[in-house]
Amino acid sequence: MASIETSKPDRNLALELVRVTEAAALAAARQIGRGDKEAADQAAVDAMRQVLDTVSMDGVVVIGEGEKDEAPMLYNGEHIGDGTPPLVDIAVDPLEGTRLTALGMPSALTVIALAERGAMFDPGPCVYMEKLAGGPDIADLLDLERPLPETLQLIADRRGKSVRDVIVVMLDRPRHHEMMAAVRAVGARTRLIVDGDVSASLLAVSDNSPVDVLWGIGGTPEGVISASAIKCLGGQILGRLWPRDEEERQRAAAAGYELGRVLTKDDLVQGEHVFFAATGVTDGDVLQGVRYHSGGKASTESLVMRTRSGTVRRISARHDRAKLRALNAGFDI
Ligand code: FBP
Repeated sequence: MASIETSKPDRNLALELVRVTEAAALAAARQIGRGDKEAADQAAVDAMRQVLDTVSMDGVVVIGEGEKDEAPMLYNGEHIGDGTPPLVDIAVDPLEGTRLTALGMPSALTVIALAERGAMFDPGPCVYMEKLAGGPDIADLLDLERPLPETLQLIADRRGKSVRDVIVVMLDRPRHHEMMAAVRAVGARTRLIVDGDVSASLLAVSDNSPVDVLWGIGGTPEGVISASAIKCLGGQILGRLWPRDEEERQRAAAAGYELGRVLTKDDLVQGEHVFFAATGVTDGDVLQGVRYHSGGKASTESLVMRTRSGTVRRISARHDRAKLRALNAGFDI
C-alpha cells in the first residue's frame, strides 16, 4: 500500500469528495420517478466524473462502472484526479439504486470511497458476495460459518430482547427465500428492500437503528463500498464471494480468488486512511433525498467520514441551481 500519510497527512479528502456526491445526487435527482434508470445512472456518472477531476489526487478506479468498453467513464482502471499525490484507490457507485431512483422509491444515494493505493479488494470476476453486517456491540457475534438463525438468537441475548424483536434487513430476491423462511422460523423478522444494500448496511451498523443486522447476497462492489463506511462508523461487515455459476467459479479460482474465505471489513479495505462520502437522492432511513425549494434552490444531505479520525459528519447543503448549471455547463441540475 502506498502511504497517504507521507504526502498530506491532515488533508481530509472526504470533505472534497462530498462535492462529488452532491453533484451526482443533484443530477440524478432530475430523473427521480421518470422510469428511466439508465438516464438516472448516466446523469450521476457524468456529474460525478466532472467534479472528480477537480480533486487533487492520483486516483485509480478499482470499483467502478465496469469494463471500459461498456462504461466510457469511471471504468475500472481509469485514472482520476490531477495526478498529484496522494496515490489512492477509488470506489464509486455514482447511483446506488438506479431502479429506486427511476421509480421514485426510497434510499437511493450517490457514493464514493477512497483509500490508499492497493488497499481495496478487487472483486475481479465475482459479481456477488454473501454479506453480514451489524453494529459495534454485536460485531464479535457475526459469523458466516454459523447458521444465521443461531446468530440472531445470540444478537437477541446480547441486546436483551426476544428473538421475535430481531429484524434482518435483506434484498428481496428469490435467492433469499430459503433464508427468509429460516429467519421467520426462529421467530425473527425480515425487512425486505427492493435494492440498495449499501444504504441498508449503513442502517444496520447505525445507533438506534430500526434493524439489527443486514444479511444477503448482493453486489461485491457494494460490499467494498459498505466496508469503507463501516471502517469509519464502527461495526463489522463480513463477505464471502458467491459465484453465480460454475463458469464464474472457475474464472475466479483461476484468477486466484479463495472462494470459501470469509473477508472482514479490513480485508475488503485495508489500512486506516479510508474516506467515504454519500449523498441522498431519494429519501431514506439514512439520508434525506434531494429537495427543491423556491427561488431555484435545492438542498442535499450527505454523510462524510474518515477512518483515521473516526469523525462522521452529516452535511446539509443548500444549492443555487442556476449558478451550478452555469458552472457545470451541460448538466441538468
Ligand atoms: P444498482 O447499482 O443497479 O442501483 O444496484 C443496486 C443493488 O440493489 C445493490 O445495492 C445490490 O448490491 C445489487 O444491486 C444486487 O444485485 P441484483 O439486483 O442483481 O440482485
